[in-house]
Amino acid sequence: MTARCNVVVLISGSGSNLQALIDSTRSDDNPARIRAVISNRGDAYGLTRAQNAGIATQVLDHKAFDGREAFDAALIEAIDTFSPHLVVLAGFMRILTPTFVRHYAGRLLNIHPSLLPLYKGLHTHQRALEAGDAEHGCSVHFVTEELDGGPLVVQAIVPVQAGDTPESLAMRVHAQEHRIYPLAVRWFAEGRLCLGEHGAMLDGQPLPATGYLIRT
Ligand code: GAR
Repeated sequence: MTARCNVVVLISGSGSNLQALIDSTRSDDNPARIRAVISNRGDAYGLTRAQNAGIATQVLDHKAFDGREAFDAALIEAIDTFSPHLVVLAGFMRILTPTFVRHYAGRLLNIHPSLLPLYKGLHTHQRALEAGDAEHGCSVHFVTEELDGGPLVVQAIVPVQAGDTPESLAMRVHAQEHRIYPLAVRWFAEGRLCLGEHGAMLDGQPLPATGYLIRT
């Protein structure tokens, strides 16, 4: 029997990825357990999702702090109360300081709505459409000091369809986010996924630079 893996999830908004994680960790054979959800916004709907699932929540408003370093220091303190083995960024729309990222090195995952390294930052669906890309998608990666730049764990490729709008494309990408994030978190919790010296490793083997690829 694998030991439980304590997970803390950070959010800023709707929390649909959080919901997918809550649903997937309900099953007894998944060693991941979400111990807390922390938001930098008091109005994030994800807080309600967590409360409905009986998960501890906390709000840490970044505007109440004097700068990024002070906020991240308080965030580390709040997170570490729950002794996490893994910290999961699920739509947490804050740029993290190097101090924060280093503190959770090898146990900090993020999801991003593009096929990284393409379209770091915001408005990814619109940018993929404007570029005329045939394929778009989403990525889970270990977080390093480079924004949206750490070693890739898994990507889901979503074909762009004729007539797609940023909204229609976002909807299909979102559905895949809800599939790949629980997968990556489960791999980590089972001890199958780790960050090695040269990148992400699954079952003791280096993953390709794209991460594990899923075609939809
Ligand atoms: C998701 O699409 C996630 O990939 C994105 O925010 C959304 C949160 O949705 N994250 C980023 O853009 C991070 N760079 P959710 O709150 O419904 O999970």
